[in-house]
Amino acid sequence: MNLTLQPFTTTEQTEDFARLMCSTEPWITIKRTVEETVKLLSNPIATNYVAQVNGETIGFTRVTMQGAFPGYINTLVIYPQWQGQGNGSQVISQLEKMIFSQVPNVFICASSFNPRAVKLYKSLGFELVGELKDYAVAGHNEILLRKTIGPIIGFKPTA
Ligand SMILES: CC(C)(COP(=O)(O)OP(=O)(O)OC[C@H]1O[C@@H](n2cnc3c(N)ncnc32)[C@H](O)[C@@H]1OP(=O)(O)O)[C@@H](O)C(=O)NCCC(=O)NCCS
Repeated sequence: MNLTLQPFTTTEQTEDFARLMCSTEPWITIKRTVEETVKLLSNPIATNYVAQVNGETIGFTRVTMQGAFPGYINTLVIYPQWQGQGNGSQVISQLEKMIFSQVPNVFICASSFNPRAVKLYKSLGFELVGELKDYAVAGHNEILLRKTIGPIIGFKPTA
């Protein structure tokens, strides 16, 4: 499998992925509109990446390397027909390499009603940090997970 991640900034791609997110759980329950999502995805605090296999778009992800928790995988979505084939795991593996070359932590959240995503992240070595109660929408929590290669003090970036 030749999976690549490329940064993207075009309005067309941003709108495509906003529509994908808004038609997919967990964002349906979170009640995000396409307009709100385009605005969030356009914020330059994070970088958007398109995931492709042999040139075909299979999903996208968004990563924040700034702020209080640099190394935060903000969004990850694989098109339904490409799910369950190892693509999400491959995206996370590539992001880990990129993030760990700059900071010693990778953070990711999953909604409390998305146990399959939580199970996936734990199977990839992420550990539970805690639950953010009623974070995005009342009645549901966001589960924060972290994978680390050591403390910040003493960490030497390689990129
Ligand atoms: C979660 C997601 C990114 C994983 O990508 P993937 O390519 O399906 O994952 P992989 O093939 O590498 O790993 C398979 C595991 O992913 C999880 N998974 C598969 N489909 C899923 C889905 N629709 N929703 C949530 N998790 C899913 C399961 O844990 C699965 O393992 P299982 O078959 O033993 O249950 C992808 O399924 C997806 O985009 N889901 C919808 C959006 C979403 O939930 N994003 C994560 C928000 S935190």
